[in-house]
Amino acid sequence: MKDFDRKALLRAAMAARKFSYAPFSHFYVGAALLSTDGRIFTGCNIENSAYSPTLCAERCAVAKAVSEGVREFAAIAVVGPEDGETTPCGVCRQVLYEFCDENLVVLCGGTDSHYTETTLGELLPKAFRL
Ligand code: THU
Repeated sequence: MKDFDRKALLRAAMAARKFSYAPFSHFYVGAALLSTDGRIFTGCNIENSAYSPTLCAERCAVAKAVSEGVREFAAIAVVGPEDGETTPCGVCRQVLYEFCDENLVVLCGGTDSHYTETTLGELLPKAFRL
C-alpha cells in the first residue's frame, strides 16, 4: 500500500503528540502507524523517573497495534517538537523491523508542515533478524 493519505497520517501523529508525557526531556513526540488494512494506531512517548523504562512514541504505537492482533503495516509517521524532521531512534527502527520489511514507508515531521519520506530499509540497512 504505497498510495495513502500522507497528510492524514502526519495529522494523526501530531494529534497523538498532545498526549506525550515528557517531563524530563520536554521532547514531545507523536507517532501514527498505518496497518495494511487501513487502520491507524497512534502513540506518544511516555517517560519515567528512572529514565530507562521510557517508551518512545513509535514503540507505543507498535504495542497498541500488536496487542490488538494487527501485525502488518504499510507506513508510520513520526512527529517531533521542533521544526523539521524527527527520525525514529535505533531501538524503534529495530522494533519496527520485527513486524515490517524494508519497504515500510517512514514519514518524519515536526511542528512545521515540512516532512521527509524514507523507508525502513534506508534507515536500518543490513538489519538483524533471527
Ligand atoms: N523519542 C521518541 O519518542 N521517538 C524517537 O524515535 C526518538 C526519541 C522520545 C524518547 C524520549 O522521551 C524523548 O524522545 C527524548 O529522547
